[in-house]
Amino acid sequence: MKTALSQLGQNTAPPSISWLMQLALSRPKMVSLAAGFTDNESLPVSEVREVLAEILATDATGQAALQYGTTPGDPQLRKLTAAHLLSLDADAIKNYKVPANGTKAVAPNKKSPSYAPESVLITNGSQQLLYMITEALFDPGDIVILEDPTYFVYLNIAQSRGLKCRGVKLLEDGIDLQHLEDILEDLKVKGELPRLKMLYLVTYFQNPSSVTTSYEKKCAALKLLKKYEKLAGHPIYLLEDAAYRELRFSGAEVPTALTAPVNAERVIFAGTYSKPFSTGVRVGFGVLPEPLLTVVTRIKGNHDFGSANILQQILKHSMSSCRYKGHLQNLRQRYQRKAEVMLKALQKHFPKEVTWIEPEGGLYFWVKAPSYIATGPKSRLFKTAIENDVLYVPGELCYADDSSRRKSTNEMRLSFGGASLKNIELGIARLGKVLHSQLKK
Ligand SMILES: Cc1ncc(COP(=O)(O)O)c(C=O)c1O
Repeated sequence: MKTALSQLGQNTAPPSISWLMQLALSRPKMVSLAAGFTDNESLPVSEVREVLAEILATDATGQAALQYGTTPGDPQLRKLTAAHLLSLDADAIKNYKVPANGTKAVAPNKKSPSYAPESVLITNGSQQLLYMITEALFDPGDIVILEDPTYFVYLNIAQSRGLKCRGVKLLEDGIDLQHLEDILEDLKVKGELPRLKMLYLVTYFQNPSSVTTSYEKKCAALKLLKKYEKLAGHPIYLLEDAAYRELRFSGAEVPTALTAPVNAERVIFAGTYSKPFSTGVRVGFGVLPEPLLTVVTRIKGNHDFGSANILQQILKHSMSSCRYKGHLQNLRQRYQRKAEVMLKALQKHFPKEVTWIEPEGGLYFWVKAPSYIATGPKSRLFKTAIENDVLYVPGELCYADDSSRRKSTNEMRLSFGGASLKNIELGIARLGKVLHSQLKK
């Protein structure tokens, strides 16, 4: 019998995240350094307890919170979000040291549409925004350029919707601009530019590599997109996914692409309160240029006609008191400590042939084994790691299926977010043992 499933239903592969979570639960002694969970002990329980008491203190505020809201989101939360973004960018620009021949950042302007509450759409995590933008922009066969490696859950979205992915090499300060230009030229030569809709960058402490894109690179990428837009015959957007932006624990803040002097009107900004506040509350947001704002809001109307109101109220109350900022300050210190513990454990337990990028924020170490050690889901290393009760994200899951690029097979993502300090040390010791056993003597 033929399937009743739609093309989308048939094309949607099992998300990598689901089987990784399942694996983590399958062995009681498993230390998961794979999950992108946030730190459990520092979740803002007392803050949310107080805030809920405030919200439910009177019938009027309680009823308002327990009722449906509006599709774009609570007006006050949109206002607070716009003001929050403006203040983060204003601070980043104040402290930004323009390199020689560098681009002068444009001081963010309260009146710019990028910081207007009306441009903000509240979503169910930033994940929903990523999905809706993909629905709004892409038909099957359309092209997205993304970092190589990139956020693997976005790759699942792209795959299920039949997108063609082109991976651009990632360096220590963001994408390789020459490689981006080569890809754009290649698309031009092949007559494929009209199918290119977007460049997707995870710009702060990238998932999985922990790389932060420099301001210079964001501006240069926008200039390049503008140059090729004429040949594409339609806008080419830059989707800046800033999920980890507020989790910085060292180094100087970097302004967002919203402040770029050229082509900032093509920036779609994806932000979230999941990582800096609570993954369980799961409130995200987007700043979108027109006509995307209108279209994505309509799509959201069809998805759920608005994110859960009470969750938005929790954020609104936390942000308009000092609870959000206070919590974030603690969180940063906590992640800094966890990153230090992971670093020391890596230095102690991993073979000297294994290298990594030291993060300045976020939740991850991106680790490279010698090229002859495969780390993929079917590799001996991955299987032995599971037998030894430790789990990591195989690096190759983070590479797009791009026939013009070879996927790297010897990397892994290790998260210090969810595991306790004790388990970080234990997990790295177990993984170190497995790595040592596979070294060529
Ligand atoms: C790069 C990136 N973007 C977006 C998300 C989605 O997060 P949320 O939907 O909780 O905002 C994640 C979650 O891990 C992520 O790593």
